[in-house]
Amino acid sequence: MSEAKIIDGKAFAAGLREKIAVEVAAMKKDHGLTPGLTVVLVGEDPASQVYVRSKGKQTEEAGMESTTHRLPAETSEEELLNLIEKLNADKTVNGILVQLPLPDQIDEAKVISSINPDKDVDGFHVTNVGRLWVGLEAPVPCTPYGCLLMLKDTLGDLTGKRALILGRSNIVGKPMASLLLAESCTVSIAHSRTEDLPERCREADILVAAVGRPEMVRGDWIKPGATVIDVGINRVDAPEKGEGKTRLVGDVNFEEASKVAGAITPVPGGVGPMTIACLLRNTVIATARQNGLPDPDL
Ligand code: GUN
Repeated sequence: MSEAKIIDGKAFAAGLREKIAVEVAAMKKDHGLTPGLTVVLVGEDPASQVYVRSKGKQTEEAGMESTTHRLPAETSEEELLNLIEKLNADKTVNGILVQLPLPDQIDEAKVISSINPDKDVDGFHVTNVGRLWVGLEAPVPCTPYGCLLMLKDTLGDLTGKRALILGRSNIVGKPMASLLLAESCTVSIAHSRTEDLPERCREADILVAAVGRPEMVRGDWIKPGATVIDVGINRVDAPEKGEGKTRLVGDVNFEEASKVAGAITPVPGGVGPMTIACLLRNTVIATARQNGLPDPDL
């Protein structure tokens, strides 16, 4: 069996960020606009802190305005809602992202609903979720959109392909289904309660794994030649690297899967970098729409 093509999300994302930086410079020059992204982080979740730092850095590198609000873990729902109200009213803030998960005392759905849908660069507001499903203009959730870009780059036209999405989250699984359906794939969503899961996976030309279970998808779950997108980022012990050391793995057993798949994303360096690039893209598009400009070609 030949080795799968490795889909280089890191390089793809770098190319997208370059195009975004050119668009941002043109917006400044032609319209005096600097797209602004505000990220809100509540608490000290280590993974969230890493993501939020990368988002801020890459936003600035693209020439955009980046603001991060770091709030203590004991922040009340009311305090967070008050901050969002201020950000909604602030004309220099074009995009608002509240990093998830939020601490238990805060109702996530209520917080997401409080964000102005025009500034919802995650595409998580119910208005935007609905708009995406019925095919209206809406911000597209960043991780699934990054996956879609890589799939189209690898396969070209996706029409008629059988796609199986492993995971039914609001952040990845459900919007991924919507996007692949819009590309005329035959879409299934599988999850922890799905019967005969390995067999269902083996039917798929496109397999998107987003369950958060380290290396759950084995090589023999994959149809030979299939395209595999691994959304998982799981930190596991790596005693082979020394005591107390860890490493990142996906939801797919890469070593096994890369011997069967036609193409596969690595972890790290696959979906992760694409997510942030798509967030920057959404912020630039939101800025254009808020100012009556046509959507930039990104
Ligand atoms: N936590 C994990 N992924 C995401 C994401 O795409 N957006 C937000 N806001 N929080 C997340």
